[in-house]
Amino acid sequence: RLVVLDDEVEVGAAAAREVASALQALTVGARVLGVATGSSPAPLYRALTELASNGSFSDLRVCALDEYLGVRADDPRSYHATIDREVVGPLGLDPANVMVPPGVPEDADAAAVEYERSIEAVGGVDVQIVGVGVNGHLGFNEPGSSADSRTRVVELESSTIAANSRFFASAAEVPTRAITQGLATICSARHIVAVITGESKAQALRDMIVGEVSVDCPASMLRTHPNATVFADRAAAYDL
Ligand code: GLP
Repeated sequence: RLVVLDDEVEVGAAAAREVASALQALTVGARVLGVATGSSPAPLYRALTELASNGSFSDLRVCALDEYLGVRADDPRSYHATIDREVVGPLGLDPANVMVPPGVPEDADAAAVEYERSIEAVGGVDVQIVGVGVNGHLGFNEPGSSADSRTRVVELESSTIAANSRFFASAAEVPTRAITQGLATICSARHIVAVITGESKAQALRDMIVGEVSVDCPASMLRTHPNATVFADRAAAYDL
């Protein structure tokens, strides 16, 4: 399902309503929300915070898509810190219910396998929020990632490093590796809500919606999911 709205504020509001009503339909106490980082979901998190009445999501467990390798959790640029700032604090969640791959593990491959197990251990993700990279990536699954991929260590493409350098002092400071949920892990979520905004994402959205379903555009894999909604703004959708 594709929903095109005027701007990122409307996209965030509509996506937040879908996330909130999906969560409200679930049994309180065991709900798992998959969260993405980046600029795209920020308006969604603000709208979700406004929709949340006092403590209404306090049982919620949140589970991150990915984390940079080499960045500590207490570094403000880590995805862990970003999720704490944008989701955990505003929604009043219990920090003990936050799952993020470790940024500085002793053994990164083992940590990735452990993260996949920890998602299974909480019963999988009920509602997964995703953004889309300029090259169509999901999480840090760059083009060419296997459709069967699970959580693992990946190398970032130079276009991803360039796009994410705005959060660092320079491109040279952007980590070159990350732990990311795989495409199969992401697609195992029972409900997916994608947000994609801005003109820089027009090609990615086009490939995702009208291109072939192919790992050349990882986001196109969402078309194989039985319950995925894509919320886009007019700027991203202008070329559809
Ligand atoms: C990063 C994240 C993705 C995110 C993408 C797009 O690479 N790993 O999960 O979707 O950036 O970010 P933005 O929304 O800032 O364009």
